[in-house]
Amino acid sequence: KSADYIRIVEVGPRDGLQNEKQSIPVATKIELVRRLAETGLSTIEAGSFVSPKWVPQMANSSEVLEYLLRSPPASSSPVTYQFLTPNVKGLDGFLSALHSTPSTSQQTHHPTPSPSPSSSSPSSSAAETSASPTTPKIELSIFTAATETFTQKNTNCSIAESLARFQPLMARAKDLSIPVRAYISVALGCPYEGPNVDPHKVASLAINLLEMGADEISVADTTGMGTVPKTRELLKTLKAAGVEEKDLALHFHDTYGQALVNTVAALDHGIRTFDAAVGGLGGCPFSPGATGNVATEDLVHCFHSLGAKTGVDMEKLASVGEWISKELGRPNESRAGKATLAK
Ligand code: HMG
Ligand code: MG
Repeated sequence: KSADYIRIVEVGPRDGLQNEKQSIPVATKIELVRRLAETGLSTIEAGSFVSPKWVPQMANSSEVLEYLLRSPPASSSPVTYQFLTPNVKGLDGFLSALHSTPSTSQQTHHPTPSPSPSSSSPSSSAAETSASPTTPKIELSIFTAATETFTQKNTNCSIAESLARFQPLMARAKDLSIPVRAYISVALGCPYEGPNVDPHKVASLAINLLEMGADEISVADTTGMGTVPKTRELLKTLKAAGVEEKDLALHFHDTYGQALVNTVAALDHGIRTFDAAVGGLGGCPFSPGATGNVATEDLVHCFHSLGAKTGVDMEKLASVGEWISKELGRPNESRAGKATLAK
């Protein structure tokens, strides 16, 4: 990828849908992933192997994974699909879906051990570069949080327990050469402990997760309480602690309308990977009041205006945002998406 490339991780099919109250047919979820893959996005988070009692909407993620393995969506360049696995039980569910799809499951096994955290992010792993255009590449995501209360509410354990749960999961993922991304939620504000989350806590967690073998850390503003000064302070603290920009992604929710300005602050700091959801879908069921992720269309419009490359076709993406918003019966939250379609 060229130096002016910015990687977008599309989290709409997971973060975007997990909080929808009405049950979404699996065919709609698959169609969303399929349409997104056609826009040029390189990475799509497609589902979640969590407890169906906690997050019923994600209960059929194995069907989504099986579909992706059986019938990889058409795409002009390789697409990586990510799935959340919070514990070994989630990893087992993921692996059983992987192995129940014999025709193409071999393609998801990464042929070489994944690189050390300090040498590469998932976007540049050997497995990705060796894949054919339609070969689905699969990665896992784990998640913890920067405050004890949010970790309890989201995953029913303490921060230390969440890290302990990751150890065996990580060891098995490494054995299978499957890259793992790690989220740190509420890094810029917590719904339970308030807007001032200690950036040193985020930094020490990031170091811990990288040492455990995470290939990338996605620092999440779950509540949208992040501001430009707070974003800058957090990124400076991470850097001072030894976390390199290439190992980081930023994950902004747009509850206070600050996601784009925070994104530009992070770009200035050297971050080149950002999470977003088409149509601005999304929200965490355990973060009351928080709204969707920053809209992918808005990020793409902003990045292209800065002369950066994303590989994404804006018009196709805008159509996907409009389509899924209609399917869900909710307004399209992307300003850039709506403006593009109105042209
Ligand atoms: P737990 O209740 O502590 O686990 O769940 P447990 O070991 O005590 O098991 C309780 C029950 O859950 C058992 O079933 C287990 O089998 C089942 P029962 O015997 O009662 O019938 N179970 C599972 N089932 C399926 N898959 C699994 C699994 N694990 C246990 N993996 C757990 C712990 C973390 C699983 C649970 O608390 C949970 O699923 N929480 C939901 C977390 C979640 O999905 N949150 C939203 C995603 S994170 C997010 O949105 C933030 C992010 O976007 C970044 C940001 O914006 O901040 C990433
Ligand atoms: Mg999120």
